[in-house]
Amino acid sequence: MPKNLKQTYDYIAEGFYVTVKDHNWSDKYLKRFVESLSKNAKILDLGGGPGVDTKKLLKYSTNITAVDLSPEMIKFVKKIAPKAKAMTMDFYKLKFKPNTFDGIFAKACLLHVPKKRLLRVLKSLNNILRTNGKILVLIKAGRGERVVTDNHHLLKTDRFFSFHSQKEFAQYLEKANFTILDTEKVKNPKGHRNWLYYLAQKK
Ligand SMILES: C[S@@+](CC[C@H](N)C(=O)[O-])C[C@H]1O[C@@H](n2cnc3c(N)ncnc32)[C@H](O)[C@@H]1O
Repeated sequence: MPKNLKQTYDYIAEGFYVTVKDHNWSDKYLKRFVESLSKNAKILDLGGGPGVDTKKLLKYSTNITAVDLSPEMIKFVKKIAPKAKAMTMDFYKLKFKPNTFDGIFAKACLLHVPKKRLLRVLKSLNNILRTNGKILVLIKAGRGERVVTDNHHLLKTDRFFSFHSQKEFAQYLEKANFTILDTEKVKNPKGHRNWLYYLAQKK
């Protein structure tokens, strides 16, 4: 069994790609995000996994960078979205300079951050955005934080998740110096847990 989140995502990279490659439930949020940015904006796909959304973001801008903790995921990004810059990076130790990006697309990755570390991560994301830069966040709705065992991506895994109410995560964003522009509860089409969507702007 993999010992940590990095090993877990390396282990399930292929199954993850196979199970999410045709998902389109979040495309309308991706569209709202890119439409809030200027043409050819510099966008970071944070915790982008195998690059399914990286590829979609490339339709709107040629200036896309994808980072992920898992080298196996980054191999997929290089295959399916070769026009993006893709690299392994831990979002607890971001290596970008302040004011680098116009937008950060953070879909289904901040849900792995324990609440006690969340504010620091959001502040570091705020720091690498340019003034008025935007962040899209999609996280899982719910309460508390815990390890969840499932086989949603073909292999059985144990992953740590934190769950938030709509108001709770909004407060983290505000404390990290973001203004919320748009937020919605998202009904998961496959009947899994509901999601929360936020589009927020650096103050
Ligand atoms: C549920 S997947 C979502 C992937 C993609 N964003 C999507 O929506 O299909 C979570 C991703 O976040 C990445 N991740 C988790 N913790 C990370 C960290 N500390 N730094 C960078 N990436 C991380 C994982 O490796 C994984 O690829």
